[in-house]
Amino acid sequence: MRIIENIAEMQRLADAWRAQGERIAFVPTMGYLHEGHLSLLRTARQLGTRSVISIFVNPAQFAPTEDLASYPRALDRDLDFCVQIGVDAAFVPSASEMYPEGFQTYVEVTGVTKNLCGASRPIFFRGVATVVSKLFNAVKPHTAVFGQKDFQQLVTIRRMVKDLNLDIEIVGHEIVREKDGLAMSSRNTYLKAEERPIALRLSRSLQIARQLVDSGEKDSKKILKAVNDCLTAGGGASIDYAKLCDTETIEEIEKVEGPTLLALAVWVGKTRLIDNCVLGR
Ligand code: PAJ
Repeated sequence: MRIIENIAEMQRLADAWRAQGERIAFVPTMGYLHEGHLSLLRTARQLGTRSVISIFVNPAQFAPTEDLASYPRALDRDLDFCVQIGVDAAFVPSASEMYPEGFQTYVEVTGVTKNLCGASRPIFFRGVATVVSKLFNAVKPHTAVFGQKDFQQLVTIRRMVKDLNLDIEIVGHEIVREKDGLAMSSRNTYLKAEERPIALRLSRSLQIARQLVDSGEKDSKKILKAVNDCLTAGGGASIDYAKLCDTETIEEIEKVEGPTLLALAVWVGKTRLIDNCVLGR
């Protein structure tokens, strides 16, 4: 596996592959890889003839109050996983390679970033759209795989690709969960043992909502009441948001008629967890 720290070198490799008719499939990550990331990488291997991962903890998507400094990192272990899976190249730029002095250009997707995580983390999607654009320009992929775990991020990237006419196919990958239902996340490592049962309420509340919708309930208020009750019963969890939204516009809806995103962000101690599912399909 090639390990590349330099943007120009990544571009040269991508150009050489493209000249040979290879199809480049790309998975952007912030590292501390878990089975969710690895599943995206396996999908990428099937989608392309060459697969590339990027591992870069992107300062532009963290607010000053957030966990940039403490975000978990394990580069050597991550690279071993990538070799085992058969990834062709790992792009691992430094912060100064990506954001050299004088950097002043950002990509901003407007409408779909207003609600949910965009409301609680105002600079987040600007940072994501900017870094993903830069990573696309470095890796020059034909296709890129993103997890539905970060549903609003996936919608934002699809919007950006469409609006900027980027010639890249975006593939969404289902959420990979632990056996107990907890959605895998690099940040799960922050959870203390006693917080783990509280964290399980997120996936549990999604199941409760699904059962309600399957039994004919359409009223958002009633569904969200059941979700809120499940999340808060027993204490220890503080809800950032629990909302039902249109899957394309990410605007809130009153009634579940057709596919509807149920999106959650919940603080368990110092850890902010997100999870979601699409109801009504
Ligand atoms: P990161 O949180 O490392 O996630 C990288 C990719 O893995 C994202 O597409 C995310 O949705 C996916 N992913 C994470 N956990 C998953 C799970 N349990 N099941 C399925 N997919 C999962 O998302 C980012 O990094 C960054 O914002 C990034 C796009 C790399 C830009 O910096």
